[in-house]
Amino acid sequence: MKKTFTLTLLVLFGFSYAQDKMSWFEEAKLGIFIHWGIYAVDGISESWSFYNGYLSHEDYMKQLSGFTAEKYQPKDWVKLISNSGAKYTVITSKHHDGFALWNSKYGRLNAFSSARAKKDVLTPFVKAVRKSDLKLGMYFSLPDWSYEDYTHHTNKIRRYQIAADTLRWNRYLNYMNAQLDELSQNYTPDLWWFDGDWEHSSEEWRVDQIKTKLIGQNKNSIFNSRLNGKGDYETPEIGIPVMAPRSKYWELCVSINDSWGYQPNDNNYKTPMQVIDLFVDTLSKGGNLLLNIGPKADGSIPDAQKNVLNELGGWIKKHQSAVYPTQRGIPYEHFYGPTTLSKDRKTLYLYLRDIPKDGNVVLKGISNKINRAYVVGQGAILNQQTICTVYWNKYPGLTYIEVPKESIDPYYTVIAVLLDGEIELYREHNGAVEQN
Ligand code: GLC
Repeated sequence: MKKTFTLTLLVLFGFSYAQDKMSWFEEAKLGIFIHWGIYAVDGISESWSFYNGYLSHEDYMKQLSGFTAEKYQPKDWVKLISNSGAKYTVITSKHHDGFALWNSKYGRLNAFSSARAKKDVLTPFVKAVRKSDLKLGMYFSLPDWSYEDYTHHTNKIRRYQIAADTLRWNRYLNYMNAQLDELSQNYTPDLWWFDGDWEHSSEEWRVDQIKTKLIGQNKNSIFNSRLNGKGDYETPEIGIPVMAPRSKYWELCVSINDSWGYQPNDNNYKTPMQVIDLFVDTLSKGGNLLLNIGPKADGSIPDAQKNVLNELGGWIKKHQSAVYPTQRGIPYEHFYGPTTLSKDRKTLYLYLRDIPKDGNVVLKGISNKINRAYVVGQGAILNQQTICTVYWNKYPGLTYIEVPKESIDPYYTVIAVLLDGEIELYREHNGAVEQN
């Protein structure tokens, strides 16, 4: 009996602890990802360009002399990110090429020791983030393809097999963990965004040890899923999943054009409308969007990227109440479009991408009384009409809500529907007409 009681307490405690540490993440909705490294100098793909043999490792490293960071204004970066409506940011402290943005004591490949910048470019960013309301995420690549003791160098050159040289592998792990300690102790990230786990198994990476160590240093740290699946949330990639992920917490990372790092030839920028499409879709499925930007090697952020962030920020500002904190919306059977619910589940938000043809949006099968409907950011009460209800059954019918043309937003118009209590969806089958 006593045992069961203790066990229940432990489970409950563990559960509420997990919930607590995830609560900011759950409510954040938007994060800005930053891929910044020497690959921005020639505008080639981050790390993969030499790994895949598009140029030699030696030529790739020549970019060190072009990484100046001379126009780098971390405070402006943070301002831009905050104004985009994001609640957190994740920066590539070190990508697979092994180039570290901070002045690491381990290895020589970093912005201070080997790049033209000759300065630690991570610390000033972290300082600016800590002065803002943003949470800090640290991207860290487990593989370091430049480091002599790492197994892989390129897709053609495998330096050694772990089983054949465990001492060498241990040397690598010591180096990697020493860098993780530096990051953890200097910056205490709120979130760890690991990458590259696919190159080894969790046993080889010693994932459990990494997690225990980092949690020991900050018990509230959150882990993404690229720790061989042992993270705190799911990370679908490329596009919005058609079905909402099963897990409660998830994050979709997307690039702003087709590249993670800055590539001047890549002008396939997503328009603000397309980014808001992705954002609204993510919101309605209860996830977070992690939108990437790629600053130039001098530290400036291209105007095209700034523009997307500013437009997104403007839209979010106007529709704040329909963005955070909200939770996933209702099934499409009830409304043909994305929706979210307020935290207390008493307000339903309808997101309209297009202008309704006859001026109305239609809600179906909502059992609650609708106390009021209004356009978010404006407030005027909207006319509504309910049809197909009869006194002898509980089918709540269809409600038409009239949206004035003047209220249409250039991106998404949002309608708030205030209910008389927590939302109740009518999900019964309708029978024959039994009375008249
Ligand atoms: C992939 C790539 C990497 C990129 C990352 C961002 O893991 O290896 O280049 O940084 O995705 O999600």
